Amino acid sequence: MRLSPVEVSDGAVAIGGRPVLRGIDLTVAPGEFLALMGPNGSGKSTLVRAMTGLRPLSRGQVTLFGTPLAEFRDWRRVGFVPQRSSAESGVPASVWETVSAGRLTRRRLLRPLGAADRRAITSALELVGLADRARDGVGTLSGGQQQRVLIARALAGEPELFLLDEPTAGVDALNQRALADALRGLKDLGATVVLVAHELGPIAPLVDRAVVMRDGRIEHDGELREQDLSHHDHHHRRAGAGAHALRVSAPLDGLAGGPAEGRRP
Ligand SMILES: Nc1ncnc2c1ncn2[C@@H]1O[C@H](COP(=O)(O)OP(=O)(O)OP(=O)(O)O)[C@@H](O)[C@H]1O
Ligand SMILES: [Mg+2]
Repeated sequence: MRLSPVEVSDGAVAIGGRPVLRGIDLTVAPGEFLALMGPNGSGKSTLVRAMTGLRPLSRGQVTLFGTPLAEFRDWRRVGFVPQRSSAESGVPASVWETVSAGRLTRRRLLRPLGAADRRAITSALELVGLADRARDGVGTLSGGQQQRVLIARALAGEPELFLLDEPTAGVDALNQRALADALRGLKDLGATVVLVAHELGPIAPLVDRAVVMRDGRIEHDGELREQDLSHHDHHHRRAGAGAHALRVSAPLDGLAGGPAEGRRP
């Protein structure tokens, strides 16, 4: 039996003395596509960051591929796309250059890109549907396309475990479908995916397991439920969208359900 790509036992996180996560027990199976859901502030990003070691636990343990986090060194096996990050670093970079950065963990320092690197970059770009934009500057892409560049960058490292924090936030319906296609490709390759999302839209059919957080605890762990598909507190999300100064289309266009109106659970 293959080892769990990520396991949290009795995990707790306190930030500034305030408990933010409590009693987290979560074992993700190899190849599983897990949606991590729940309202704003429920602890989703904190949990994903704890899985990468970016946010230390105050109690409990995280293991990656059977190895306690503190001893884990095989970071090439893990791809992480943080929340609301921008592909733009201030330095004008092309799509190709940005995605090639995802190969860094696999390359010896200062070696030029080899054939295997080029293949991985090309197939990552194909998987997210941006092969035709490889030579374009990242800044000329839309927000949703930039998000796909970041996913391609993570993909290019050929990780086995993907941690994606709200890749669909502020992404229009067309780009959400492109993203869903890319994620389906990942899933077909056997990757394990932990994806944070408020609304799943076209990603919903990929989800094997839904974990719903509330006030720093896991409230539900199992099947994707009808109630988890509603667009709860979407308005809060929109307010912070300026963090990546991107063109953002109406995110709910063409999606079932329309904007949440008083549907906070
Ligand atoms: N750096 C920080 N300093 C202080 N408090 C923090 C910090 N990061 C998170 N928190 C708090 O921890 C709690 C959980 O935050 P977290 O970002 O994990 O929520 P979330 O579920 O990802 O929310 P969202 O849907 O808005 O992204 C919140 O109450 C938040 O205020
Ligand atoms: Mg978050």
